[in-house]
Amino acid sequence: MLLAIETSCDETAVSVFDSERFLAGETKLSALLRSELVSSQVALHASYGGVVPEIASREHLVNLPLLVEEAFAAGRITAEDIRTVVVTRGPGLKGCLLVGMSYAKAFAWSRGIPLLGVSHLEGHVFAGELGESLSRLPTPLLVLLVSGGHTELLEMHRTREYRVVARTKDDAVGEAFDKCASLLGLPYPGGPALAALAGQGDRERFRFPIGMAGSEADFSFSGVKTAVLRTVEQLGRLDESTRADLAAGIQESFIDALLQKTERALRKLRPEAFLLTGGVAANIRLRERLTQLLTSRGIRLIVPGKRWCTDNASMIGMLGLRIVEANIDRFRSWRAHGSAETLLSPLTPGNIGVAPRWPIEERADS
Ligand code: KG4
Ligand code: ZN
Repeated sequence: MLLAIETSCDETAVSVFDSERFLAGETKLSALLRSELVSSQVALHASYGGVVPEIASREHLVNLPLLVEEAFAAGRITAEDIRTVVVTRGPGLKGCLLVGMSYAKAFAWSRGIPLLGVSHLEGHVFAGELGESLSRLPTPLLVLLVSGGHTELLEMHRTREYRVVARTKDDAVGEAFDKCASLLGLPYPGGPALAALAGQGDRERFRFPIGMAGSEADFSFSGVKTAVLRTVEQLGRLDESTRADLAAGIQESFIDALLQKTERALRKLRPEAFLLTGGVAANIRLRERLTQLLTSRGIRLIVPGKRWCTDNASMIGMLGLRIVEANIDRFRSWRAHGSAETLLSPLTPGNIGVAPRWPIEERADS
């Protein structure tokens, strides 16, 4: 069994996969995924209007051991069944990552089993392989990763080899959705509420700027927030239909920015498929416009199920399974000669600390 742990932000998540069956060629998820738990702290942070790092790490500390126990009970397995641990090493909040990493290290070290520290961003990419039946991501693949913490347009030209086409130089798009929502008086995290409101609004009434329209490699979403603030101040009291129109204008400007760079990338690259992932992938208008763009070019759109778009441990486990598969001889020899020393495996070099800032193109596990 493979134990996967994710604690990079405000979700504590644990999944357990049957790695033996996976290696034997099983692809049915129901036969592979023994446990999948996510404990969200979102309600706890709501009154602060955002994630408070210290509170988040303390919560992980309390929740993680309980969640692992619960995951074992739910999957009818014991700690002894676990042969590999995979944990998010970064990027993310340092204190939060430290809790997951320390727990994972202690678990692996005390049992003499290998530990893999992997990238949260790469986990979001491998969420694209999860489904009723696991499917390998095709390459070259263009990926739009949009969440509360990240906004990246990536090219995976070969499996696990990435090139960043564009990333945000300020706010992530989910964060920008949340900040604008708060300017419209919606409670945190307001992204989904703003999107729902936008569905009833007039997209033409308010036009907001498209950040970094001229740049190839940068997204920028913070300018919209300032423009919205100014407009809201000028308007004074907002009636329901004006709020909906504002929401529609805000959403359209974010999507314009995302699609403009996507379209530009598609002119240069000819991907086998396009992956939309991260919490903002839930946005219906974004999916609609992306589908239009891709259909006209005959490119398949992959969107993981909702529970794998938001932060979860199954995406981390999926990535872990692929790493084990690609290095199976090394894993077999660890199993044969398992000892505490094998913890600092060649897959996670000596320095197995957390990596709060870790660009996806910098591989560190092979
Ligand atoms: O991936 P996620 O659950 O958390 C991390 O950021 O790691 O993403 C949450 C973000 C929040 O900013 C939330 O407001 C945004 O995704 N979001 C949406 C929608 N659903 C969630 N933004 C726009 N439209 C949506 N339908
Ligand atoms: Zn995430």
